[in-house]
Amino acid sequence: MTPDSEVNKPVIIKVNAHIYGLDTVDPHLTLLEFLRESLHLRGTKQGCGTGDCGACTVIVATGEAPNESRHAINSCITPALAVAGKQVITVEGIASDQGLHPVQQAMVDSNASQCGFCTPGFVMSLVDFTASNKVSETSSRSDVIATIGGNLCRCTGYRPIVEAGLIACSTSSDTDLAHLRISQEESRLLAKSESIEGYIKVDSESAFLDELNTSEPGSRLILSGGTDAWIEVTSRLLKYDKIIDISDVATLKHIGVQDGILSVGACTTLSRLLSFFSAGACRSEAMVNLLKRFGSKQIRNRATIGGNLCSASPIGDLIPALLVLEATAVLTRANGSRILDLEEFIEGYRKTALAKDEYLSKISLSIPESWSSFAFRKLSKRYEDDISSVSIAVFLLHDNVRINEIRIALGGAGDRALRLFEVEKIILGRRLIDIDWKAVSDTLDRTIFPISDVRASADYRQSMAIASIKEMVDQFFLSSSGS
Ligand SMILES: Cc1cc2nc3c(=O)[nH]c(=O)nc-3n(C[C@H](O)[C@H](O)[C@H](O)COP(=O)(O)OP(=O)(O)OC[C@H]3O[C@@H](n4cnc5c(N)ncnc54)[C@H](O)[C@@H]3O)c2cc1C
Ligand code: FES
Ligand code: FES
Repeated sequence: MTPDSEVNKPVIIKVNAHIYGLDTVDPHLTLLEFLRESLHLRGTKQGCGTGDCGACTVIVATGEAPNESRHAINSCITPALAVAGKQVITVEGIASDQGLHPVQQAMVDSNASQCGFCTPGFVMSLVDFTASNKVSETSSRSDVIATIGGNLCRCTGYRPIVEAGLIACSTSSDTDLAHLRISQEESRLLAKSESIEGYIKVDSESAFLDELNTSEPGSRLILSGGTDAWIEVTSRLLKYDKIIDISDVATLKHIGVQDGILSVGACTTLSRLLSFFSAGACRSEAMVNLLKRFGSKQIRNRATIGGNLCSASPIGDLIPALLVLEATAVLTRANGSRILDLEEFIEGYRKTALAKDEYLSKISLSIPESWSSFAFRKLSKRYEDDISSVSIAVFLLHDNVRINEIRIALGGAGDRALRLFEVEKIILGRRLIDIDWKAVSDTLDRTIFPISDVRASADYRQSMAIASIKEMVDQFFLSSSGS
């Protein structure tokens, strides 16, 4: 039973089996700091602090059984107040009266831990997998590897961890986290959690507009998943007068298809997009492959399509893809909306066309007749959980002889992702054997300006751009399915 003194407070969070009521929380505090320093739950570790190592993985849960939803996230790049009104499950909470959680037991039995620093993070990623995917003995090694793609271990090595994951798939059951379920009464309490000064969690677009119209860009932060913006807070110690958290605005999370047009709300997470493109009428293997290469599961569970576009990073993976799919961005303000092509929306390095009283509400595109006319390739130093050195998206239609339509976009080769209009002109209307690849190469030399940095040299980026475009165009003919 939760004491009244706990629940008559503005901020309510359930952590493991306990409800906490709080008068206030520092709006700039991360969830990891809150767990470790405020609640003294030090099982959750800080490795990198930037979402790259997974040591800080926890599960965020909402909803009552049997409709609860649970997602593993990186607590180091999540504001503590982002989980107000929700439940956080940490490594301290998963064992029950029955003993260790099956994932913990499998880690012990497989000798899957040495120094143990990374272990709570791996355990929580695997608990999320076994709890939310109704896994069984049929889960494969590659499923387990994909699950722990956002977790790094520097001493044990991954083989015993993967073994533990596979064992846990066959020993876990739906009831392993039954002792942590959110009851009806708790659900009602959590719903009462309120915004506090400095951290406003808006629940509608009109409330969002009110906040936009009463604040200035330099002093406020619009926060969707925070996987880009919160790094600025933790690494550069930026402080804002007001953080406007839009991640729970239902209308900004809507995905809909009407008359062949796909509309995706700006706050749709990449995990949700991945599910969307994995099944149903819009099933697209190319989009699934793209999204699986985006960060880690923990990142995809928070990162949003709108955040990717609004951060306007030259290595944002969705931007080249959406450029060749000719997507449009809907910008909304109090007195209406305007629609911009993506080329107009992204104005430069981390610069968009958004005015100070506007936000990105949705992204729309015509669904291609066949998704096989779309291809995406990402080159990065590490396969899992890494950002691109270069990314290339191609949309191509051919009739087995000539190329009748082609759109190419490139990320990582300048201050923003670009459509390669001049290259497209060289290729359009040609037979494969007639394409002048020397002209393509010369054009790229003239029109793209990659930089050298820790990820790749400018020369590498330049060479990989041309090699990849050629290979991808060839591939459309080899698979003979682009017509
Ligand atoms: C470990 C790690 C791995 C990553 N891997 C990848 C990767 O593989 N590929 C990739 O492209 N990116 C990657 N990223 C970057 C980041 O995850 C993405 O850009 C993500 O899509 C950002 O979405 P978000 O919801 O977290 O944005 P946020 O961080 O919430 O916001 C980003 C910016 O957009 C603004 N904003 C957000 N939504 C709106 C809106 N609706 N209207 C107006 N402004 C808005 C915010 O104010 C902020 O300036 C990675 C990041 C990390 C930490
Ligand atoms: S501490 Fe490394 S991902 Fe959070
Ligand atoms: S057990 Fe030491 S880092 Fe993984």
